[in-house]
Amino acid sequence: MEISSNPNSLSHLLHHHLQDQVSMALRALFLLLLVAMVAAAARRDEESRAWAVEYVAVTGCRAHAASVVEFGAVGDGITSNTKAFKAAVEHLGQYSKDGGGGGGGLLYVPAGRWLTGPFNLTSVFTLFLHRDAVILASQDISEWPVIDPLPSYGRGRDKAGGRYSSLLMGVNLTDVILTGDNGTIDGQGAFWWQKFHKNQLKYTRGYLVELMYTDQIVISNLTFLNSPNWNIHPVYSSNIIVSGITILAPVHSPNTDGINPDSCSNVRIEDSYIVSGDDCVAIKSGWDEYGIAFGRPSEHITIKRLTCISPTSAAIAVGSEMSGGVRDVRAEDITAINTESGVRLKTAVGRGAFIKDIYVRGMNLNTMKWVFWMTGNYKSHPDGKFDPNALPEVNGISYSNVVAQNVSMAGRLDGIENAHFKGICLSNVTVHMAMKAKKVPWECTYIEGVSKDVSPKPCDSLEDQGSDEGGGGGELTSCRFPEERLPIEDIEFKRCSYAA
Ligand SMILES: *[C@@H]1O[C@H](CO)[C@@H](O)[C@H](O)[C@H]1NC(C)=O
Ligand SMILES: *[C@@H]1O[C@H](CO)[C@@H](O)[C@H](O)[C@H]1NC(C)=O
Ligand SMILES: *[C@@H]1O[C@H](CO)[C@@H](O)[C@H](O)[C@H]1NC(C)=O
Ligand SMILES: *[C@@H]1O[C@H](CO)[C@@H](O)[C@H](O)[C@H]1NC(C)=O
Ligand SMILES: *[C@@H]1O[C@H](CO)[C@@H](O)[C@H](O)[C@H]1NC(C)=O
Ligand SMILES: *[C@@H]1O[C@H](CO)[C@@H](O)[C@H](O)[C@H]1NC(C)=O
Repeated sequence: MEISSNPNSLSHLLHHHLQDQVSMALRALFLLLLVAMVAAAARRDEESRAWAVEYVAVTGCRAHAASVVEFGAVGDGITSNTKAFKAAVEHLGQYSKDGGGGGGGLLYVPAGRWLTGPFNLTSVFTLFLHRDAVILASQDISEWPVIDPLPSYGRGRDKAGGRYSSLLMGVNLTDVILTGDNGTIDGQGAFWWQKFHKNQLKYTRGYLVELMYTDQIVISNLTFLNSPNWNIHPVYSSNIIVSGITILAPVHSPNTDGINPDSCSNVRIEDSYIVSGDDCVAIKSGWDEYGIAFGRPSEHITIKRLTCISPTSAAIAVGSEMSGGVRDVRAEDITAINTESGVRLKTAVGRGAFIKDIYVRGMNLNTMKWVFWMTGNYKSHPDGKFDPNALPEVNGISYSNVVAQNVSMAGRLDGIENAHFKGICLSNVTVHMAMKAKKVPWECTYIEGVSKDVSPKPCDSLEDQGSDEGGGGGELTSCRFPEERLPIEDIEFKRCSYAA
């Protein structure tokens, strides 16, 4: 018997069959993809028309709301939306005058990549970013207006003269809220850092957010990426809450400070995470003769549950520009990893004014150059016209409950010969030195103060108030931390919702 079969034709058939199946599968896949794409587009379209948000408010919920898409914005990361943002803010600005308790407007930014140049905000206003919304800062320099230097600085910080606007900017406002479901504001800073390093910029780089002369500010639940310069800069402002934000920039990017309250009062910074190339928080108040003449301090500031990574800067800095004075700053539960120093004071002859009543309680630090660092000869001046007789007064600086690991030097405290830093208090401090630590753990010049339960043993100018078996026998049980709360700590948020 012979089975007459043609193996060739069988394989041929099989081959064809397979090919058919493959091409059918491909076609099905293609169709599925198409359907998915159409559905996603429809969803995006739907979302930009029908959207809902839950948001926080302080004065009252906003009476009006709009999506930036209604003003022609396109979230493709390529189209410039500066006009759309400006038109949207102008439209909502008409409700500002209705006041907080029932007026005002909310601007919604849906998922997408929204390229824009700087634009101004308005009063009684909320900007809300969807979790997948990214506001991208324009790299077209002609989009960045040049504005006057700050009166308390007398010049731009990078360059004498004017400065580029900040991306989100506000002047003379009240009740401004920038928030979202952890949406992102991306400064695309590399472009600016390169130009800065090559000295190719005519003006000082812009910030991501600057609010001047503004009362009642909330900045919450957002991520700030790669700012050209400082990230968040409230200046000449009051009643400010910064909560639940993430700030990220490469650790060697120039001047990417996190949050810089500058001549501001009643400030609450909490629950935030900052990785940056400069100080995570820097409290300022103007520069030399310009700051002295302007005369507006930074005061009543609380910072809680801050986590910082900044290998060449401080977790919290006071100064170096402090010529309007800085007083009543309270920092609690500060964590820093791979950061140069903890809460650092920076000032100089010519700054004038004061740094006083700085309270720090609870720092958990790991891998630090200096746990405690005070500098009285910070070399940077706006010009040669500073007054050599304008000596800063530094008094009442308390640190307690500090634990640090892997530290090169416990403290380097340098006051000013004719203006000693006074009233320094250190208590309950344990510093574990690194394997390759400096031989001398402390270095102190022109400072006066007390200490208790500090290890390793601090310099003699921090008089040991000792444990019971000897020592100075002073009254010190721990350094002072104010018991009464600041009014800004008791502000509670209202919860609001809106559905388009
Ligand atoms: C924002 O307002 C300030 C002050 O009026 C102005 O100088 C600046 O040019 C405005 N910025 C933009 C981007 O319109
Ligand atoms: C802000 O207010 C001050 C003082 O009222 C005024 O001089 C200045 O022109 C205002 N600036 C803007 C941009 O509104
Ligand atoms: C917000 O986004 C940043 C950046 O993606 C992320 O690191 C952070 O954990 C997020 N925060 C929250 C609360 O989801
Ligand atoms: C931040 O987001 C959390 C989680 O969505 C929310 O409970 C909280 O009210 C928000 N806080 C602020 C100040 O926006
Ligand atoms: C200790 O600090 C050094 C830098 O000073 C770092 O290279 C090393 O990784 C750190 N070690 C630990 C255990 O964190
Ligand atoms: C000393 O500080 C540690 C944390 O750094 C804390 O747990 C402890 O309670 C403090 N002791 C006193 C007596 O306050």
